[in-house]
Amino acid sequence: MDVANKSTMSEFVLLGLSNSWELQMFFFMVFSLLYVATMVGNSLIVITVIVDPHLHSTMYFLLANLSIIDMSLASFATSKMITDYLTGHKTISFDGCLTQIFFLHLFTGTEIILLMAISFDRYIAICKPLRYASVISPQVCVALVVASWIVGIMHSMSQVIFALTLPFCGPNKVDSFFCDLPVVFQLACVDTYVLSLFMISTSGIIALSCFIVLLNSYVIVLVTVKHHSSRGSSKALSTCTAHFIVVFLFFGPCIFIYMWPLSSFLTDKILSVFYTIFTPILNPVIYTLRNQEVKIAMRKLKNRFLNFNKAMPS
Ligand SMILES: *[C@@H]1O[C@H](CO)[C@@H](O)[C@H](O)[C@H]1NC(C)=O
Repeated sequence: MDVANKSTMSEFVLLGLSNSWELQMFFFMVFSLLYVATMVGNSLIVITVIVDPHLHSTMYFLLANLSIIDMSLASFATSKMITDYLTGHKTISFDGCLTQIFFLHLFTGTEIILLMAISFDRYIAICKPLRYASVISPQVCVALVVASWIVGIMHSMSQVIFALTLPFCGPNKVDSFFCDLPVVFQLACVDTYVLSLFMISTSGIIALSCFIVLLNSYVIVLVTVKHHSSRGSSKALSTCTAHFIVVFLFFGPCIFIYMWPLSSFLTDKILSVFYTIFTPILNPVIYTLRNQEVKIAMRKLKNRFLNFNKAMPS
């Protein structure tokens, strides 16, 4: 029965964010600009961290890895949306839709674990500074990165395998600009109660608990920083506040979508813009570009590049 149903459902229609032509042009321009800015900002961070030996520490390695995930997250949904605006092409195959779900959950899942790794690193650095060197070694840093990808892959596989078992039997209009489980699930011909339980238990509760853990660790860090009002503390305070803003902006929409998976389409659509388009650009801005060490490293990099150009015979 499943097979027959799936063959009749060979593709989905993505309705996009709006059907008005003017709004579409507006979104096209805004999203293209944001996309370019996301790619440029994050690439700069990755290059700076790789090139500058002063930034060869766990925090910056993790931040560079976060930039790579952000670029991937921005690329997989936004780029299709941007090209669809140009070509007027709006359909996506069933497999294409599952692929989008897979990558969306892969990148967001990995990003969540990586954000936790970053907060763990900051927690040890600030609250247990004497033990930092023994706890956070380069091997631990590699292990954290590998663990975040493994968790991401396992989580996204579970989502796709569940989606594969669903019978789709008629409606095929996805009211969003990319395929995500909450919108696609609403097209399946099964009891939505089961679906929402699945989404709440595999995504919602996990996102919520990670958020609580992160919130806790940043509160502890901030309290510690307040008590030891030494010279470095205002720097640590601004770093951690900035980290926390990113965490909140990223988790807020995720938690909302997956804890109330059957909420209205409109809020889902607006919130999904948040974590697929705004977070990837906010991360570099908030985490890294405001950071003094990174700014200095980038200036050095620019000077090196300019000198290199001057040295070239023209
Ligand atoms: C990502 O993290 C690993 C593990 O620490 C590190 O070796 C690698 O250089 C990082 N990636 C980037 C682009 O910095």
